[in-house]
Amino acid sequence: MDVNEIDYPFLIGHRGVAGYAPENTLASLALAYKLGVRFIEVDVMLTADNHAIIFHDHTLDRTTSFKGKVSQHKWQQLQTLDSGSWFHPDFSDQGILHLKDLIEFANQHPDLKLNIELKPKFSNAIRTTRLVIQQLKREFKNPERLILSSFDPLALKTAQFLWPTCYRALNIENRYMGWPLVAINLKCKAIHIDHQEVTSGFINKCHQMNMAVRCFTVNDPYRARQLKAMLVDGIFTDRPADLFSHMF
Ligand code: G3P
Ligand code: MG
Repeated sequence: MDVNEIDYPFLIGHRGVAGYAPENTLASLALAYKLGVRFIEVDVMLTADNHAIIFHDHTLDRTTSFKGKVSQHKWQQLQTLDSGSWFHPDFSDQGILHLKDLIEFANQHPDLKLNIELKPKFSNAIRTTRLVIQQLKREFKNPERLILSSFDPLALKTAQFLWPTCYRALNIENRYMGWPLVAINLKCKAIHIDHQEVTSGFINKCHQMNMAVRCFTVNDPYRARQLKAMLVDGIFTDRPADLFSHMF
């Protein structure tokens, strides 16, 4: 195992703590930190006018007060939306988070490790990655605490070219043929994979390739213990407080 892996906590707050607060909002990050979570994953994509925002779906419908494609709206409009009420009325003050706000939060909490998942819409991988990296290089004070991940190999290829020293992880839904070659070519240090796809053989293979294995998304304490026993290196969870006491 690469020594760089040793420092990363086992539990990763998924979209902040998506089980306790609206995903990818400031409230979700703040609650994660308050609960002792020191490794947080968020998703990033671009608005119509090239602002990088912290958002998961490519449409606004599920998690905001509006409808339509994210990529067809400008930041000026998106920043007015309510991104919290869908989860609970107590969070009606939560808006969509801009990448600059995420960076500001991370800079204020230097012990926090961050996984930014690049979620470009189809055909937008290069621009999304370039703009996100430009902003991170300009504003983020702790790039050694950052992991850039993506399901999109082109986004990772762009990251490798623009920021070769940044830790990259390949996200995969399943063990498609050729994934090891993709991961090796992109010089990834980790594979992030759906926990239902993981086997001991897969974990061994990743470790032999000097890559860590992290699994998404695990909210069941029994399953989390099982994966830990199988020697996975981390799990993404919406509900870290439910798992803490079961893990250690
Ligand atoms: O990055 C791990 C996990 O977040 C990937 O799946 O759909 O929750 O972004 P998703
Ligand atoms: Mg994600």
